Amino acid sequence: MTIRFRLNQQEVVVNGVDPHTSLLHFLRAQGHTGTKEGCAEGECGACAVAVVRQGPDGKPRYVPINSCLVLLPAVHGAELVTVEGIAGDELHPVQDAMVAKGGSQCGYCTPGFVVSLFTEFYREGRQPGEVDPEAISGNLCRCTGYRPIREALASLPLPAKDDTHKVRLTQHQPVATGLSYEEGEVCFERPTNLERLFTLLDRHPTAKLIAGGTDIVVEVNQRDSRWDVFVSLEAVAELRGIEETPDHIRIGAGVPLSEVEEVLHGKIRIFDELFPLFSSRLIRNRATFGGNLVNGSPIGDGAPALLGLDAGVEVASRDAERLVPLADFFTGYRKTVLEHGEVVKGIRIPKPLPTLQRFFKVSKRVMDDISTVAAGMGLWLDDHGVITKARLGYGGVAATPVRARAAEAALVGQVFDHAAVARALPALKQAFTPIDDHRGSAAYRAAMVPRLFEKFEAESHPAEAAE
Ligand code: FES
Ligand code: FES
Repeated sequence: MTIRFRLNQQEVVVNGVDPHTSLLHFLRAQGHTGTKEGCAEGECGACAVAVVRQGPDGKPRYVPINSCLVLLPAVHGAELVTVEGIAGDELHPVQDAMVAKGGSQCGYCTPGFVVSLFTEFYREGRQPGEVDPEAISGNLCRCTGYRPIREALASLPLPAKDDTHKVRLTQHQPVATGLSYEEGEVCFERPTNLERLFTLLDRHPTAKLIAGGTDIVVEVNQRDSRWDVFVSLEAVAELRGIEETPDHIRIGAGVPLSEVEEVLHGKIRIFDELFPLFSSRLIRNRATFGGNLVNGSPIGDGAPALLGLDAGVEVASRDAERLVPLADFFTGYRKTVLEHGEVVKGIRIPKPLPTLQRFFKVSKRVMDDISTVAAGMGLWLDDHGVITKARLGYGGVAATPVRARAAEAALVGQVFDHAAVARALPALKQAFTPIDDHRGSAAYRAAMVPRLFEKFEAESHPAEAAE
């Protein structure tokens, strides 16, 4: 099969390109050099392109993604807009706004900002003057400073009714189709259902599974990692969807985090606190909970948050399905319980949700940074304020994300106050084995563990905390 997609309203057909090629490198090699390479690891946004995607509201929308973190075969069937495709005969309103507000100096970051502003320009429900900082949270500028760019965002008018890009959004939905692409010795498979996925896993036991690719493609770009077979999970229908039942909330393992963020906004406080700190929206438009958990990183932000919610992991193979408590999912540094032929199908968050819940992240920068320590904390209280269940999940303090089980046990039966915290602290201090690295010393991490818990209690009782 060939790779086919639409780029700036033109059909593109690709053959003879190594599947390890990033979309960014392909675009630039084809002369679309407006799209820039800054970091090649998802941190600067200079490579941003817009993709048309069906939103949770069922309508097509423009979504910005980092083209440096997308393997070319992953855009099969997609519809893309690069900075070259934004303007018509005249500058696009977002380009006008950048000029008028002085939003560019050296210009290296500018195409990425323009693409992010372009997607925000067409966001349904956006009001003139509205500034959502998250709309440009994945774009870095080293010389202009953000005020003029923010002003450009605030000055955007609403799109005209006959605006070509707006009209496009009233038309057909993009459809994720299957793909079986081979070039040289490398193969990229994109099944559309679990049955086909398991067949491919039987056929290719060493295949590299790839979802959003926001971690794997960094390895391709920065460490020159290579695989013989990729199996993409992006189009597998059973890995999509977010459903709520009386017992739980289920999130498909392949749902982009930005979709989880939008659908569950206001329902789960831990998520509302997690997502603005969980990389950038550009990344969240591709990254998934499934990928974040299977990656097994001890400093991933998803696991501590989900541990605080007492989440379970749906693990599926061709013949069986099992629900593994997330606390038992990690078996060692970057190791999980997954066996050959098994995939993570979804995440289940049991109901009722915790009465009190918080997510905290300690990092060198507030936004778009990797955690030094992260914590997801959930407490279930009865009608008298007594703790009936506690979940304290931490990342960055052991070889895996982990729960402080002894401290949780010490909390049950207590009212959540200073005294309960004091009783739990000794167990909490002994629960982890942090290490020194460039993000923080073991001593610093160890100190953060009780401090975050104390913060949880203090901010749950603001009047007492102020005394
Ligand atoms: Fe920096 Fe892609 S090149 S995010
Ligand atoms: Fe120079 Fe933004 S204008 S990096």
